[in-house]
Amino acid sequence: MDYKAQVTNSILSVLNDELSSAEVYEKLEKPKSLSMGDLAFPAFSLAKVFHKAPNQIATDLVAKIDQTSYEKVEAKGAYINFFLDKGKFSSQVLTNIIEEGSTYGQNDNGKGGNVPIDMSSPNIAKPISMGHLRSTVIGNSIAKLLVKNGYHPIKDNHLGDWGTQFGKLIVAYKKWGNEADVKKDPINNLVKYYVKFHKEDKEHPELDDEARETFKKLEDGNKEELELWKWFRRVSLESFNKIYDKLGVTFDTYNGEAFYNDKMDEGIQILKDKGLLVESRGAQVVNLDKYKLNPALILKSDGATLYITRDIATAIYRDRTYKPAMNLYVVGSEQTYYFKQLKAVLLEMGLPSAENLHHIPFGLITVNGKKLSTRSGRIILLDEVLDDAINLAKKQIEAKNPDLANKDEVAKEVGWCDYFR
Ligand code: ARG
Repeated sequence: MDYKAQVTNSILSVLNDELSSAEVYEKLEKPKSLSMGDLAFPAFSLAKVFHKAPNQIATDLVAKIDQTSYEKVEAKGAYINFFLDKGKFSSQVLTNIIEEGSTYGQNDNGKGGNVPIDMSSPNIAKPISMGHLRSTVIGNSIAKLLVKNGYHPIKDNHLGDWGTQFGKLIVAYKKWGNEADVKKDPINNLVKYYVKFHKEDKEHPELDDEARETFKKLEDGNKEELELWKWFRRVSLESFNKIYDKLGVTFDTYNGEAFYNDKMDEGIQILKDKGLLVESRGAQVVNLDKYKLNPALILKSDGATLYITRDIATAIYRDRTYKPAMNLYVVGSEQTYYFKQLKAVLLEMGLPSAENLHHIPFGLITVNGKKLSTRSGRIILLDEVLDDAINLAKKQIEAKNPDLANKDEVAKEVGWCDYFR
């Protein structure tokens, strides 16, 4: 049902050919606030024909309009505001959905355009967090909406699999870890080593130097460090995949930060060539005054790269590989400022798809008002949350419908399973 057409007919029924159907249809507006209705017709254009003030015209016409198929129709200033009958509207929408089934809403507006969605993107050797869960399910839903709208989404799990923390983890594993424990329960044990590192390095700051050297070895491709890193990455992914399987979410690519580690030179070169990279206290930054943002730190004073340096490489890669119609990043709102900076840097670089970069933020989950942090051990394990949801549903069933035959199955569906699919 085209509600604009319905409203157009209502207006036409109280006019005498002063405006054509197409003219009325085009003039209909969506009011700024729902309190002013769902569709509004401005009466200004009729002032000349009727030789009356638009306010008066609106009032006169409303008196003549048959309101039976609306919740109400009212004149407000020069506008005629139409309030759709929500009950009828909902029942119409639901009937359409049932009739059209999986084709409901399908359209070709996206013309097959590629849309990489940076989603989930957990960090290796750490448990997948509530934030990563939200990114996973929001990203997955957006992918489905995009398909409906004729786009081609590319679900891209940008794993946090590179950075100085792996130097720390390798040092910690070598000092306090063992293979059997990691094999038995990879993530929990790797987190244990990492947390211990941060406790110990307060009293033994030399551990930090050791970690820095170890990360350097990893960057240089030293065999022992590289093997350990690959192993940590593999076991982490295996454990993440168990959760993705539960949620029924799949990805098109898992190119994490490490994948872009050898692809950063090009971005840095473009920044240099365009004269955008300037020195600030030994470090290399891009000035973003024009965007009212703080400068973006691209290279540290020792030449080390950062999260943003890898994200610049990622954006160039996606731009070239997919020629994206849109570039979406489903990442928690604590990174909103960061994504503003990233977009600004890419705009300055002249990257074609920078204009269509959109950060899709979501709220931060805290525990007792504090941010979750692996380092401090303040974490909520996603697996436990999912199991809790099922157990809570089971309790409700026991209390309200204890004779139900397939309790476990229903608890799982009610708890979360079908909810996320
Ligand atoms: N791994 C990051 C985190 O857990 C999220 C990565 C988001 N994606 C990106 N391209 N920066 O905070």
